[in-house]
Amino acid sequence: MSGRMAGKRVIVIGAGSVGEGWGNGKAAAVLYAREGAQVLCVDRSLSAAAETAALITTEGGTAHTFAGEMTDPLAATAMAGAAKSRMGGLDVMHFNIGTSVKGGLEETGFNDWNKVFSVNLDAAFHATKACVPLMGQGGALVYISSLAGLNNGPYRYIGYEASKAALQRFARSVAVEYAPRGIRANTVVPGMIDTPHVAAMIAPGQDMETVRSARAAQVPLKRQGTAWDIAEAALFLASDAAGFITGVDLRVDGGMGTLMGTSA
Ligand SMILES: NC(=O)c1ccc[n+]([C@@H]2O[C@H](COP(=O)([O-])OP(=O)(O)OC[C@H]3O[C@@H](n4cnc5c(N)ncnc54)[C@H](O)[C@@H]3O)[C@@H](O)[C@H]2O)c1
Repeated sequence: MSGRMAGKRVIVIGAGSVGEGWGNGKAAAVLYAREGAQVLCVDRSLSAAAETAALITTEGGTAHTFAGEMTDPLAATAMAGAAKSRMGGLDVMHFNIGTSVKGGLEETGFNDWNKVFSVNLDAAFHATKACVPLMGQGGALVYISSLAGLNNGPYRYIGYEASKAALQRFARSVAVEYAPRGIRANTVVPGMIDTPHVAAMIAPGQDMETVRSARAAQVPLKRQGTAWDIAEAALFLASDAAGFITGVDLRVDGGMGTLMGTSA
């Protein structure tokens, strides 16, 4: 198979979608496969992973599934084992999962704080620790963060903001530690993206057309991003085209971070 990921073996963690349509993880898994990679679709929901895998195989690509709760370190180890047994090794790990609980310091309890950190940061630690031993020269780690990790936005999500900032810092530490082995680590930083995740987690119960136009209006490019905007950025960072890029946070936000005065 030809393409920018020909011959690559990729894990996408959170390859399903919490709702109908294209989520970031689903689009990334399909795009990697379209570019020639075989993809292990990982999700806590087997049916969500299987749906993405079916999209890939229907298009003539190669996909496998693994169901596991990725906050569990044993599940991360089993996932790496599945990559080895099903694909013969691993070239790219794409860490997509993330969750949030609304509220600032006052509203946020320690349980919610821990829940958010366990998905957004601890699971990245477990997955990275399990996956890097399978990777060699040319390996790539891609983490999906959020503009909320850099700037205070219109919503207050203190656990989400702090954990995404930590995820980016974690990725940079991994980048430096594994650079001598030829393994790169980078972060994609999405801004306002129109995905099923927004309806499920950020604006549950709200009229989505109103939410969509309010979100688009805040973006300098006057539209929300799509899951494909995020997938294309991840694909670039995972591919050999980005072979000299490591430890980078790539904002994909229609200029919103610049508007908010981020220094990153
Ligand atoms: N949509 C946005 O506006 C936006 C903005 C910034 C960042 N993000 C980031 O994008 C990512 C979400 O993208 P998406 O659209 O694919 O989301 P999604 O919520 O549709 O999740 C994708 C899949 O991940 C699975 N998953 C969630 N937690 C899991 C866990 N602990 N273990 C195993 N599987 C798990 C879900 O079952 C789902 O199928 C998150 O990291 C989020 O912070 C989104």
